[in-house]
Amino acid sequence: MAIETVLVAGASGKTGREILHLLRNTDLHVRAMTRDPANVGRLTRLGADEVIVGDLLEQADADRAVSGVDTVLCAVGTKPGLDALTGGFVDGQGVINLADAASEAGVERFVFESSLGVGDAKAGLPLPARVLIGPILRAKDDSETHLRESGLTYTILRPGGLTTGPPSGEVVVGEGGDSVSGRISRADVARLMVAAPFTPEAENRTFEVVSHEGLRGSPKNVVPMTWVEPSVA
Ligand SMILES: NC(=O)c1ccc[n+]([C@@H]2O[C@H](COP(=O)([O-])OP(=O)(O)OC[C@H]3O[C@@H](n4cnc5c(N)ncnc54)[C@H](OP(=O)(O)O)[C@@H]3O)[C@@H](O)[C@H]2O)c1
Repeated sequence: MAIETVLVAGASGKTGREILHLLRNTDLHVRAMTRDPANVGRLTRLGADEVIVGDLLEQADADRAVSGVDTVLCAVGTKPGLDALTGGFVDGQGVINLADAASEAGVERFVFESSLGVGDAKAGLPLPARVLIGPILRAKDDSETHLRESGLTYTILRPGGLTTGPPSGEVVVGEGGDSVSGRISRADVARLMVAAPFTPEAENRTFEVVSHEGLRGSPKNVVPMTWVEPSVA
């Protein structure tokens, strides 16, 4: 089936905004999600065709978000501070709710921005960082597992430390957990997230990703990938 309507969960976030920037040049119909009604105008100006206000920790909101959607790009995350102390992690139960909704709605492709340090990619993140965000990494591990068992066609991307700034265009993609370590710009991650649904090679796979210039140490298990970009309108 052709991809026509895309939900960007976490559209107001730093990766999400990079995704919107890339999608605005395509003929895809883009639905952006935020919890905050004050973001609606800004997301529309960034290229969203429609904006849905909702909280992924509420199953009903996740259900509404995926209605009529064929692809989900999930770039949600928990900000350190209040969000992390109150009411669960969007990285865990929120993503699980979204995957359940997507599965129920017959969504074709689900792309999830996870992280180095999760599951078998533990070694990719230095120990101090793993200790600092341990609960979030465990929540993401739960969502990764749930997604793999959901029956959805998924791609999980586990970026290294995220930076802002322009895309480098040169990413190093590893697979199998113990592969790459380092940093990558959100713009590079967004490019892979937007390409993943159009890249049959990426189906039902989990990749560790850093940029070539952000690579730390010697990479292992590098996989050559040819990412297919959506066509420009
Ligand atoms: N920081 C790093 O170095 C690093 C490294 C690897 C991976 N990551 C992961 O990469 C992802 C993206 O990070 P980022 O810094 O680009 O994101 P970010 O700027 O922190 O944005 C997070 C987004 O999540 C949304 N969100 C939070 N709780 C939500 C909820 N309950 N329901 C719906 N949406 C919710 C927020 O939307 P609203 O507030 O508008 O609702 C926001 O758009 C995160 O999962 C992060 O853990 C980060």
